[in-house]
Amino acid sequence: MLSQQQLKQQAADAALAYIEPMLGADVIIGVGTGSTADLFIDGLARYAGRFRGAVASSVRSAERLAGHGIAVLDLNDVQHMPVYVDGADEIDAGMNMIKGGGGALTREKIVASVADEFVCIADDSKLVRRLGRFPLPVEVIPMAREAVARALRAYGGIPALREGFVTDNGNVILDVSGLEINEPARLEQEINNLPGVVTCGLFALRGANLALLAGSDGVQRLLPGARG
Ligand code: 5RP
Repeated sequence: MLSQQQLKQQAADAALAYIEPMLGADVIIGVGTGSTADLFIDGLARYAGRFRGAVASSVRSAERLAGHGIAVLDLNDVQHMPVYVDGADEIDAGMNMIKGGGGALTREKIVASVADEFVCIADDSKLVRRLGRFPLPVEVIPMAREAVARALRAYGGIPALREGFVTDNGNVILDVSGLEINEPARLEQEINNLPGVVTCGLFALRGANLALLAGSDGVQRLLPGARG
């Protein structure tokens, strides 16, 4: 039986095989954050010189990319990005995700929004029937922490401050358990509208376009519309 680390490696390798035909001198790749994204970054190093560079969704990923000699570009200088590759904490058959376990959700959402395609890479333990067992990360401007926490309680959530953690944007994270996520896109919109919320870790308004999920039988490809 393969370890979770080996499965993450398989998913990362599948993503590298998927993006290889897209590479070219002007091509910029969007790169996520987390242990699976790290494996993708390490593999991407093999293709250095065959693409222009990458936009990172965190300081952590930017440093890892730079460590491999991959050019890290400012998103403001990028007009086109064919693909964004990132992990997830949960994904459902509708390609909705919970992200932000690593606290990089806001930059992940921004970089992903610019890409033509979002490719989610994960081991298949991340595939769930319904989102919400993983506490939903919500990035909050510090002065709004308690006000947002009260509002999230009104949704039935139990918010917990991620202790000792500050995002790359200087904000805090509330990890919200107990939410009933029946309509992910609607809840994403509603939480994002709370004053003081920078963004929540629901990626439903813009979900994944392709999921490469590694399991004991190999890597399964999940596409929108192929609800299981
Ligand atoms: C970071 C994320 C990650 O994609 C998510 O936490 C999954 O991480 P890992 O690949 O380590 O399981 O959203 O903010």
